[in-house]
Amino acid sequence: MSKFQLKWGILATGGIAETFARDLYPNPECRGVKDIEHVVVAAASSSSADRAQKFLKEVRAPESAKAYGSYAEMVKDPNVDIIYVATPHSHHYQNAMLCLEAGKNVLCEKAFTTNAAQCELLIKKAKEKNLFLMEAVWTRYFPLSIYVREVITSGKIGPVSRAYADLSQTMIPEKTFDDGHRMVNPDLAGGALLDLGIYALTWIFQTLYTTEKNPKPPKVLSFMRKYKLGTDEQTTMILDFPPTDSRGEAHGIATTGMRTHADPDGKGSAGPAIRVQGELGEVQVFHPAYRPTRTKLVLNDGTVEEKHWPQPGPGKGSGWKNGFGGGWQEEGEGQGMFWEADECAYALRDGRKEGRYENLEESLVIMRVMDEVRQQNGMKLPEKIETTDYPVEL
Ligand SMILES: NC(=O)c1ccc[n+]([C@@H]2O[C@H](COP(=O)([O-])OP(=O)(O)OC[C@H]3O[C@@H](n4cnc5c(N)ncnc54)[C@H](OP(=O)(O)O)[C@@H]3O)[C@@H](O)[C@H]2O)c1
Repeated sequence: MSKFQLKWGILATGGIAETFARDLYPNPECRGVKDIEHVVVAAASSSSADRAQKFLKEVRAPESAKAYGSYAEMVKDPNVDIIYVATPHSHHYQNAMLCLEAGKNVLCEKAFTTNAAQCELLIKKAKEKNLFLMEAVWTRYFPLSIYVREVITSGKIGPVSRAYADLSQTMIPEKTFDDGHRMVNPDLAGGALLDLGIYALTWIFQTLYTTEKNPKPPKVLSFMRKYKLGTDEQTTMILDFPPTDSRGEAHGIATTGMRTHADPDGKGSAGPAIRVQGELGEVQVFHPAYRPTRTKLVLNDGTVEEKHWPQPGPGKGSGWKNGFGGGWQEEGEGQGMFWEADECAYALRDGRKEGRYENLEESLVIMRVMDEVRQQNGMKLPEKIETTDYPVEL
């Protein structure tokens, strides 16, 4: 049987672009995926074609891959099936719209856009042009996440009524970031909420919303501790989800921050970062919420089932490594971004226009929650990155 090959164009050459593109390199068979394959056929840098060329070499793209010195050039490349947008979130709307306008399918990094209005317009454009569009919330596609959702839908922990999720990491902003850094800079839609808080919300949503038939959006109450630049350094949200066919009203508590740590000693001694609780027990997920590798099922009847979920890869001795932000996984172990890439390949092969485990409607509901949280706490971002005008030079 011939394999379906997905040809990727990588838009931007920063930290996560490298990690993602590197994860496309190992043969998918090393994770039991036999019917698809990925190839990086192009990369574009906003600074120069040389930078894109260097990037292609670093991620082991084939010699034939094309390097572009602007995003606008790459979107015209007929050899590219799908574009991975990996700029700061302030730029996602403009960059993803550029791709869609040019007729390209898009996988766009999280947070999807700066606000829900932009997200809505991207969805509208993708539908108009019959293109695939997905927010790159990679964690949703992990076998670990599939397992957690199955624990819930199977009824093992009974009707769920509460979930907690924390993605906090100590990176004292005034010591770690200069004012221009995308983690704190309002011009780049900085702050904990849009960068890290989205993962805490991901866990609340994929356990209280994705798992339900016809779920309704939650009510939200939130608090923010601001950084000196006006972006948030810590945010806590309480979400009240209306009853569904399979459970009553449910509460989600999502928190995120840059001063405290969800896992101070890095060994899980402080307990799980995520707890999803039902009448018969709970399922726990350990830090980090974006790339967890350990779960624990704890039931009222005394059952305790711990599971480990190492990321697959070509293995030791392969001479291949991946990681993010200076932290490398063991030799031969994947980062885990290939699961979402596989989802894109299956969707394009089968003619689907959205991801299976977070559809566009759910991405939009989450963007609306983040809009409301910012509004409740007076976190304004510059008009040029909140605008729905297109094109705008940023
Ligand atoms: N899924 C994950 O685990 C994960 C992890 C980290 C970040 N992210 C998301 O990925 C996105 C990028 O994060 P990152 O850590 O890769 O950022 P980064 O290292 O700063 O890279 C961003 C890249 O975007 C391009 N860019 C274009 N205009 C820019 C501007 N005005 N300022 C800065 N960069 C600009 C640059 O590449 P060129 O100029 O070469 O095009 C730059 O290298 C963010 O939305 C973030 O939330 C996801």
